[in-house]
Amino acid sequence: MFHFKPVTILNLPEITKTIIEFLPDNILNSYGFNVFKPSHFEKISKLKELINSIKSWDLLKDIVVIVVPPDIWLENSPIHIDGDSPQHSSHVAFNIGLLNYEDSYTICYRLKNTPLLDEKIKFMNSDSSRPYNCYKEDEVEEVGRICYNSTTANLIDTSKPHKVTNYPNLVRVVISFRWNPPLRWNEIDKKILGIE
Ligand SMILES: [Fe+2]
Repeated sequence: MFHFKPVTILNLPEITKTIIEFLPDNILNSYGFNVFKPSHFEKISKLKELINSIKSWDLLKDIVVIVVPPDIWLENSPIHIDGDSPQHSSHVAFNIGLLNYEDSYTICYRLKNTPLLDEKIKFMNSDSSRPYNCYKEDEVEEVGRICYNSTTANLIDTSKPHKVTNYPNLVRVVISFRWNPPLRWNEIDKKILGIE
């Protein structure tokens, strides 16, 4: 199926503005994964409506606010999958750019071959204490780049290798919705995926 899929949402600017109002004051200094319970954002009725159009809000596991420091270049950003294996991943996440997302992108890759688990380099996500699987450049090939704009959110398969960049001298903030059981491509309305 897809590695990622852009989704056009006409009232996204209004939803984004409200989400930003619900973020803690120090969010720009909180680099990495900031995990929130869905209840933190549940008063935003238009957001809840949007999420419910993809998969039930009540099945959300986490809402993660990903804060990427400036100057994350191709060389210093690991190619990784979220979770310690594709089996333990959240699979499809729904991401909305909140701040300073216009000039950066996430690169998506396919694996050329499946490397053995113990050959992979692992690093720990300090917030969740979960290992991430990383891949070397020669193990993957690029399939596309995820960009955000004010009316474009993205569905992204976090069980496939990807890498975040942030070239501008600004902190990038993206919000990511993840479900349990994980969202799979075949559950998503074909109209949202643009294949009908
Ligand atoms: Fe990731």
